Amino acid sequence: MGSTDKEIENPEIDGSKRNFLKLVLTLGGLATLGSVASMFRILSFVPSPNAGSTTPLVWPVVLIANLSDLQAGKPVPFNYPLEETPNILVKLGQPAKGGVGPDNDIVAFSEICQHLGCVYAFVGSGSSPDCNSSYRASGPVGYCCCHGSIYDLANGAKVVGGPAPRPVPQVILSFDASTGNIYATGMTAPTIFGHGPPGTSNPASVLQDDLTGGTVVAGITTTTTTTTTSTTVSSST
Ligand code: FES
Repeated sequence: MGSTDKEIENPEIDGSKRNFLKLVLTLGGLATLGSVASMFRILSFVPSPNAGSTTPLVWPVVLIANLSDLQAGKPVPFNYPLEETPNILVKLGQPAKGGVGPDNDIVAFSEICQHLGCVYAFVGSGSSPDCNSSYRASGPVGYCCCHGSIYDLANGAKVVGGPAPRPVPQVILSFDASTGNIYATGMTAPTIFGHGPPGTSNPASVLQDDLTGGTVVAGITTTTTTTTTSTTVSSST
């Protein structure tokens, strides 16, 4: 038997080794507890609502007005799809591209100008905007007093004057003939000014960008599929 065997037989040395072994086991245990704690932190991590979500984004469906509340040429303001993004709904009094209702004349558009983001004003046929008495509208238009962009609201907000590079997005409306209710169900391209790259027209990108940067309005869960006349407006850029 060598010196090593003698050391093992030595009670003091034997005790030191036991202490060392305890220390190793303790550190090992702490390390294991640390790993478990780390795992617990990972497992208990609560992601933000959209982080890593596999739930597809959808347009909220929102009741905007009832037919009985509307007067021709009197716009109704509302925010959609975000609480921060203003729109107008208006009964134009003449058939319109994308119009809903008995006369296909109810339309809604983003109220944010596609030039530099000012909010434009509705101007009825034969009227003038407050900022330009020399201009008289030949039809219902959106007139932006910042730099004079003019949108033809009976024709998908086609730009008919000023520097705006494209129409403002149209709100897709759904009309329930049994109740007269008018719902917002989505937005057409392009993206709302200030949301995503200007002029984005890909529907999936429009959905993603228009629902980003603010608080999505609360939608309703009831469906109107059996009695609703839905109108989807083709994209225009
Ligand atoms: S911001 Fe509307 S015309 Fe410039």
